[in-house]
Amino acid sequence: MQLQDRVAVVTGAGSGIGRAIALRYAGEGCAVAVADLDETAASRVAAEIEAAGGRSLTVCMDVADEAAVERGVEETVAAFGRLDVMVANAGIQIVHPVEDFPYAEFRKVVDIHLGGSFLLTKACIRHFYPQKSGSLVYMGSVHSHEASPLKSAYVAAKHGILGLCRTMAKEGGRHGVRANIICPGFVRTPLVEKQIPEQARDLGISEDEVVRNVMLGRTVDGEFTTLADVADVALFLASFRSNALTGQSIVPSHGWYMG
Ligand SMILES: NC(=O)c1ccc[n+]([C@@H]2O[C@H](COP(=O)([O-])OP(=O)(O)OC[C@H]3O[C@@H](n4cnc5c(N)ncnc54)[C@H](O)[C@@H]3O)[C@@H](O)[C@H]2O)c1
Repeated sequence: MQLQDRVAVVTGAGSGIGRAIALRYAGEGCAVAVADLDETAASRVAAEIEAAGGRSLTVCMDVADEAAVERGVEETVAAFGRLDVMVANAGIQIVHPVEDFPYAEFRKVVDIHLGGSFLLTKACIRHFYPQKSGSLVYMGSVHSHEASPLKSAYVAAKHGILGLCRTMAKEGGRHGVRANIICPGFVRTPLVEKQIPEQARDLGISEDEVVRNVMLGRTVDGEFTTLADVADVALFLASFRSNALTGQSIVPSHGWYMG
């Protein structure tokens, strides 16, 4: 029980990576606020946690809406009495070459990933700073370090989150708060499944080639990263016993990007 009596808020926890992290944390004794734009999905995950004997709260939250983020964090603290871990994970993907990228769609990606991470940070440190502890966990991507064609908005946002994380490590240090970022390679979630036909169309190649060459071509072994791999890193960062590890990027990606 590595997170016994701790409290975490995880955004985008209704699906994919966020869901896996919420379930892993809950299994380690953590009370988890399952926050998502999709309230039905969030309540399904919260019910899974409760059914396994854990503690959870469904939080309907658009991470790009400052009032909703603040409300969700306050609801979490009201329900569980404290807050120890933030996982800023909610995200979307929209791919286009820059010349065809509608600015509204570019802004939407940046607002959700980077703006959402900023707003959640701001709401959480209000509780972390006075208690002199807290772990900020950001969901970056290999695309926090590398670029790929068609992903200008996502790559810009994920590089931005790396910068936000490093800034928070410096600002949070004297308040006992650490900040780290997980930068996974491709994990087969709905976000990635959607991209396979889109990229095949935009790049004029087969779906099999998208998987083999675009997604896994620069791994050392042609393997996808798994939900369990990412949840393991998220648990490690949340439960690490000191603030020695701060401002760090951990890259579970089968060797795609070694930084
Ligand atoms: N899957 C991958 O290969 C991969 C790799 C690296 C990083 N990531 C990152 O991991 C995170 C989770 O991705 P995933 O693959 O699990 O995707 P997913 O589509 O399975 O889950 C994303 C969740 O975020 C929620 N969400 C979307 N917009 C939101 C908003 N405005 N407010 C609140 N919730 C919102 C969705 O409802 C969904 O439940 C994202 O930040 C993504 O960029 C994913």
